[in-house]
Amino acid sequence: MQKKLKKLFKLSCCFAFLLTACGTHEKPTFEYMPNMMDQPSVKAQEKMMRSPVAGTIPLGFEPYPYLLSEGDLAGKMLKNPLPRTRKTMERGKKMFNTYCAVCHGPRGLGDGSIVPKFPRPPMLSSEKVRAWADGQIYHTITMGQNLMPSYASQVEPEDRWAIVHYVRAIQRANHPTKEDVEKLKKKLEEMKR
Ligand code: HEC
Repeated sequence: MQKKLKKLFKLSCCFAFLLTACGTHEKPTFEYMPNMMDQPSVKAQEKMMRSPVAGTIPLGFEPYPYLLSEGDLAGKMLKNPLPRTRKTMERGKKMFNTYCAVCHGPRGLGDGSIVPKFPRPPMLSSEKVRAWADGQIYHTITMGQNLMPSYASQVEPEDRWAIVHYVRAIQRANHPTKEDVEKLKKKLEEMKR
């Protein structure tokens, strides 16, 4: 059964390839109702500006698939696609300071400038959030959580992932590993010399 399915899949791939290969000719060999292809009334740009049919999704846009209550699931399913590079970290820091620090504070301690007018948010380096998967932090930014609004419309997905990296850096700064402490000690000693 498995083999048959694989064969079928391969076949359909070949077929799809053939179809697209046919479509790459500059001029179609056969025009079905040619007046529909070059009608003067609609220019390319006008086509773009037409509003989409209700219920359709623009090409290239993937709707976020998890419900507000599914942070746990999002944590299991979503992986951070960005490598932890200096560039990503700098991007994350910039975005965090722009969108998150007003409430969470620059170190994630819950001491942003809007507090206490706005209720104090929890620490981002709590044991709870440190144990969260990257995807669950991403989920919180995307969907919001209780008093915290969603930032999906203001922060692009890629920037959300960069922020997640930066939140991890904040957590590590507040809870350094033994190696981190050793490294820091060495550096300090080097500076003394
Ligand atoms: C308007 C203030 C505000 C802003 C801005 C804000 N948050 Fe929050 N955030 C909160 C509050 C309040 C909570 C606690 C919500 C609750 O009670 O569950 C929270 C919760 C969280 C949590 C879960 C913490 C926990 O212990 O459950 C994370 C993670 C988080 N925020 C990250 C972010 C990030 C990243 C940003 C920036 C994209 C951000 N927040 C922007 C107010 C804010």
